[in-house]
Amino acid sequence: MTNRMRSVADRDRGTGSEPTVTIRRFTADEWRTYRELRLRALADSPDAFGSTLEREAAFTDSEWRNRLADGVSAPDAIPLVALVDDTPAALAWGRVAEHDAEVAHLYQVWVAPGHRGRGIGRMLIEAVIAWARESGLRVLLLDVTAGNSAAVELYRQLGFVNAGDTQPLRDGSALRRQPMQLVLDDGQTNPGSVVS
Ligand SMILES: CC(C)(COP(=O)(O)OP(=O)(O)OC[C@H]1O[C@@H](n2cnc3c(N)ncnc32)[C@H](O)[C@@H]1OP(=O)(O)O)[C@@H](O)C(=O)NCCC(=O)NCCS
Repeated sequence: MTNRMRSVADRDRGTGSEPTVTIRRFTADEWRTYRELRLRALADSPDAFGSTLEREAAFTDSEWRNRLADGVSAPDAIPLVALVDDTPAALAWGRVAEHDAEVAHLYQVWVAPGHRGRGIGRMLIEAVIAWARESGLRVLLLDVTAGNSAAVELYRQLGFVNAGDTQPLRDGSALRRQPMQLVLDDGQTNPGSVVS
């Protein structure tokens, strides 16, 4: 995959006044940008993630550096950032499962509030789906908090279906997370199929 994966200029024809959205992989030296986006995500949407701001705000600089370097260098991971013009505005990660080389997980999906509703979330997930297909994977899995209608709609629109029972979002939480999956079949999405 090229560093500059996708660039969309949804500009007003002729004026060039609308921003350009770029979806690309993080580079290893962007750990401060990654940290900022991730901590903003956890502060903005605490109910959307299994992790917490309290936990990740305590990470040291070297933990952030290593976390991103690990994702950037791993052939089985895709850490993505979205830029609106030059401003980091969103992120998402895909990673092959530890115990099943045909399965990947999608996580850390977040779009900054001021940039929502413009297709950035969809572009990020489509980029992870394309990576999963290119990698020959069979299925893409994620967990979404039950009741997070924006995220659920986004995933359904891209062909994800529920895959199993809800579980507590984290220990002691009243919130539930719903597993969803997208089966990748010969380069085609296969909505409605559920792999057990
Ligand atoms: C969920 C989220 C990533 C969507 O990002 P986004 O860039 O605003 O989404 P898009 O503009 O690409 O929308 C794509 C589709 O998602 C759905 N969607 C997005 N926002 C929605 C909303 N507020 N209500 C209902 N559906 C919504 C729609 O189906 C939309 O398609 P449409 O524009 O044709 O109607 C964003 O709202 C977000 O970051 N939320 C907080 C963090 C979070 O919930 N992360 C998911 C963790 S599993």
